[in-house]
Amino acid sequence: MPFPLDVPESVLRRRRSQKWVAYPEDVLPLFVAETDVLLAPAIRERLADAVADGDTGYFAEIERLAGVCARYYSRFGFEVPEESVVPVNDVGVGVRESLARTLPAGSGVVYTPPVYMPFGPWIRRVGMSPVAVPLIDHDGEDPRLDLAGIERALADGARGVLLSHPHNPTGVLHSAAELTELADLAARHDAVVVSDEIWAPLTMPGVRFSSFLAASNTARGVGLAISSASKAFNLAGLKCAFVVNGNPERFEVRRSALSGAVGHFGALAAEAALTGSLDWLASMNAALASNLDLMERLMAEHLPRARWRRPDAGFVAWLDLRSYPGLGDDPAAAFLDGGKVALSNGPAFGSQGKGFARVNFACSEELLTEAFTRMGRVAAERD
Ligand SMILES: Cc1ncc(COP(=O)(O)O)c(C=O)c1O
Repeated sequence: MPFPLDVPESVLRRRRSQKWVAYPEDVLPLFVAETDVLLAPAIRERLADAVADGDTGYFAEIERLAGVCARYYSRFGFEVPEESVVPVNDVGVGVRESLARTLPAGSGVVYTPPVYMPFGPWIRRVGMSPVAVPLIDHDGEDPRLDLAGIERALADGARGVLLSHPHNPTGVLHSAAELTELADLAARHDAVVVSDEIWAPLTMPGVRFSSFLAASNTARGVGLAISSASKAFNLAGLKCAFVVNGNPERFEVRRSALSGAVGHFGALAAEAALTGSLDWLASMNAALASNLDLMERLMAEHLPRARWRRPDAGFVAWLDLRSYPGLGDDPAAAFLDGGKVALSNGPAFGSQGKGFARVNFACSEELLTEAFTRMGRVAAERD
């Protein structure tokens, strides 16, 4: 079983995070985006030292953390100036503050369903209106931005674009050509692009991620990117993320207002992750790729009519189960009810998600195999 996705279920069942407490013990949890790994050794040691020393006070080293994040993020296509990095406590905060501090109240904000379900609520929470422009071919081999649709929305008055890049749940990377054109559209319509790049560190072998901000000078003029070590290293509960402000002269997204609430343990862990754990991350990405190979075999055996596109990045896969009408519009509900497997409900990602379910495959081969075996049984029973 490939390291680091080799943790026995008995250990995982001791956890009290969302993935492991949301359902009873007989349910296999393959829903919320946590991973079934033990901490990378450098992170574990850093946190263990902090616990031993009673180092549990307020976070203070904003500049040091910004430097770590800038150096790490510079691998994604452009030299990130340290001054442009604004630590925040999570990606949700980074996205909402980026919208709230750069756009007029009441603005329309384009988003690209099927997409990470909190996007609509996040846009509403900052007093703005979500404007859905679905991905083209979101259920096919080549999901991509509907640039003509986005241009129409901007021409109709929308002022923001919220990207998920790499895209959750399809796992697609938006191409450099799409991002360059999006930046030009945004510049022409005086709009702002907020790019949620939380999945950036998790690319499959042979895939290179490039930030929206790397697309062009224009992209940096109109954009902000938000990322974190939290998905790649399973640190979500420690509360640490960062905004890269593409245009600090224009956008009032500042450390003085936003960096105070970062978790001290989150910052210690992020530094250990982004400086001392990159070999561990390579093992993680290799283990995820190996799970995708396994999933191909499991799908062929247990759900042969299902369709899916291998994600370029991340650890979620978007399963098209419409050829199993017995599973209904919300196959995750059927799998939970009939097979005690918890996936994410497709329709929660937008109306495009009817007949789909999202599976989190960052688990052991054993759990993945058992989950697909159960799902195949449910599909056969309801056929
Ligand atoms: C696209 C995307 N953004 C944000 C988040 C959540 O990030 P955070 O917990 O840092 O707010 C997730 C979690 O899965 C995600 O998939």
